[in-house]
Amino acid sequence: MNNGLRRVRGMQDILPFESWKWQYVERTLQRVSELFGFQEFRTPIVEFADLFIKGIGEDTDVVGKEMYVFSDRNEDVLCLRPEMTASIVRAVVEHSLLQQQGSWKIWYYGPMFRRERPQKGRYRQFYQYGVEVIGSPYPESDVEVIALAWQILQSFGLQNIELRINSLGKREEQERYREALLNYLSPFREQLSRESQYRLERNPLRILDSKDEKDRALLANAPKIIDFLGDESTAHFQMVLQFLQKLHIPYTLDPYLVRGLDYYCHTAFEIVSNSLGAQNAVCGGGRYDDLAKVYGADPFPAVGFALGIERLILLLEEESKFPSQKSIADVYVICTGEDLYSETIATAYCLRQAGLRVIYDLQRRSVKAQMREANKFGVPFVLILGQEELRRNMVLLKSMQSGEQWELNRDTFVEEVKSRIRAVIHHQ
Ligand code: HAM
Repeated sequence: MNNGLRRVRGMQDILPFESWKWQYVERTLQRVSELFGFQEFRTPIVEFADLFIKGIGEDTDVVGKEMYVFSDRNEDVLCLRPEMTASIVRAVVEHSLLQQQGSWKIWYYGPMFRRERPQKGRYRQFYQYGVEVIGSPYPESDVEVIALAWQILQSFGLQNIELRINSLGKREEQERYREALLNYLSPFREQLSRESQYRLERNPLRILDSKDEKDRALLANAPKIIDFLGDESTAHFQMVLQFLQKLHIPYTLDPYLVRGLDYYCHTAFEIVSNSLGAQNAVCGGGRYDDLAKVYGADPFPAVGFALGIERLILLLEEESKFPSQKSIADVYVICTGEDLYSETIATAYCLRQAGLRVIYDLQRRSVKAQMREANKFGVPFVLILGQEELRRNMVLLKSMQSGEQWELNRDTFVEEVKSRIRAVIHHQ
């Protein structure tokens, strides 16, 4: 029976002892975004369902099977966003951002929702960090986002990663390729998985995403989209590859990489890791110059990617790339007797006002238990409030690392505690 005290399948809690990992990741993402001059964009979690149905495409898994759609009380059909690229396009048009400035470099971070079958690295609520460069048709902007993705993964110390890249050309070129793929696959219709048979008429490009073994075998000799590109598309792609070489960013050409969303044209890429198992794509993205058109708006060139935070964290754990956890406090104030509760609270308050991170026991436990807890939390200093010292207007500061201790005058202890702590932090 479900009495409500159960989390929804595929949705995760981030527990207090794990959140430091998320914060470390979030800080790094923000820092690297700023190195590249990107600005943060925040959009609502709830949007009109049509935004994604039109934008991502009805025959994609995301729209066809995975969206959380619901009617608002006034009958509007809303959904929990499955991604943010369409939201950004909506917001760019709605706020006429391109009329104010010719191009924008945007980053975002937040929860997305897809009702997929949960497994390691695949959840129904998951977090994405993503970027979009809006307004530039040039290969420099494709490389701007790929270089950012690469630098992010490098700044976490990840090495076991591979950039896979392809070009999907323009719409007309995709159309011609679609026909060629249809011609190639039609004789094998009966051998295809049921899903791929269904897709054959509706959207054969989606068959290239199939995970079915037999489908994959049939696809091994399928035509390649790269052979259907015109001069302009080829030149764009060559330039992207040249820029990547200039930056010494290694890549693998993947002629069958089409990505699971319909809006892409020209560059499409993914970064995968061998340490992740089945869900091996840490990030994916590409160019989507025609997306605004599906809403009847004037199109604008744009390129971006999104990175799955849960997968990134799994990867950092797998490769032991997390730094050691920082202690939750600088000082633990030890209370040595029942008549010292108010003294303890006041001392902690005073140190916190001076900018130190301070904790004390909220369970009225023994001095020994408090010391044990300070040790467990890795707090570098304890400040002991003892009756005898207090009578002499003193407190005792003790380093948990060296065991050294100092008697400090209560009128000046705050500054002294600060300088002792600074010395330790400086030393580390
Ligand atoms: P996507 O490939 O659907 O692209 O998702 C990007 C990344 O989000 C994936 O590579 C993966 O790391 C993560 N991800 C996706 N689904 C799940 C899931 N169910 N559980 C955990 N992680 C997941 C997009 O969303 C595009 N909006 C990317 C983009 C931005 N293209 C252009 N600009």
